[in-house]
Amino acid sequence: MTVRDALRDGVAALGGSGTPFLDASLLLGKALGLDAAALFAAGPDDLDPGSGAAYRALLAERSSGIPVAYLLGEKEFWGRRFRVDRRVLVPRPETETLVAAVLEACGDRPSLRVHEACCGSACVALSLAAERPRWELSASDLSEEALELARENAELLLPTDRPGGPCRFVRSDLLASVEGTFDLVAANPPYIPSGELAGLGIELRFEPRLALDGGADGLELYRRLVPQARSALAPGGWIFLEADGSQAGALRAIVEEAGFAEVSTLADLAGIERITRGRLPWKT
Ligand SMILES: C[S@@+](CC[C@H](N)C(=O)[O-])C[C@H]1O[C@@H](n2cnc3c(N)ncnc32)[C@H](O)[C@@H]1O
Repeated sequence: MTVRDALRDGVAALGGSGTPFLDASLLLGKALGLDAAALFAAGPDDLDPGSGAAYRALLAERSSGIPVAYLLGEKEFWGRRFRVDRRVLVPRPETETLVAAVLEACGDRPSLRVHEACCGSACVALSLAAERPRWELSASDLSEEALELARENAELLLPTDRPGGPCRFVRSDLLASVEGTFDLVAANPPYIPSGELAGLGIELRFEPRLALDGGADGLELYRRLVPQARSALAPGGWIFLEADGSQAGALRAIVEEAGFAEVSTLADLAGIERITRGRLPWKT
């Protein structure tokens, strides 16, 4: 079988998924050990039986709903490849807006103490750490399994001689066990209302429920996190929170009630209100 035949069969097999050609290409590349450019340059070569079998197995897993990123073991985020598996949520493109928003507001600061709560793969903390080597970064999650993977990503993506030091990780229920004072707290907490989880796409069933379930209205974790962040932040400190667009108004109210000023919401590339930010006054 040629690469072209394999792709055609893969697209047919994945017809029900949103992006069958892309998915089939990525999975064929994985089976052959080739990136996309090398795959298309491979032309008419026959697939060896071992690669063909590996490809068919990947197609079957994908057809059952397993996210492509879990099958590949990685996901690109903010220009870097993060290791991902079922221990963490697959980083979403819209979460890059959180990184962009922080860099836009504070990117020119030579030093900054930044904490990411609910870090999962640590895609946000490690992107900021890589972009701003002098900033001090730390990250936390309730899931010890997620933290294991986050530490692997830190080893993979950050140089050991980083001027701002390594990214520190701590297991914590939101910020309850996080020590220190920060200039900025960022988080993408779980925000899907519990009652909506069952009706969502099949792929979400393979992701940790802890990463998705935001309680009755999706905002339960924010109601605890925002006051905690207020206590952990220095005067003039920032909070940046990702949420669903439908929650933006309610989230702004939570942030304002906690005493933050300059509260606003930034849209993602799809125009959806995504990142709510606020800033503590300099004098309290
Ligand atoms: C939506 S995921 C975000 C992961 C990552 N920051 C990202 O954007 O891809 C939410 C994360 O919050 C964590 N989490 C859920 N409840 C938590 C809690 N009470 N305290 C700390 N982390 C929690 C989950 O384990 C999960 O890793």
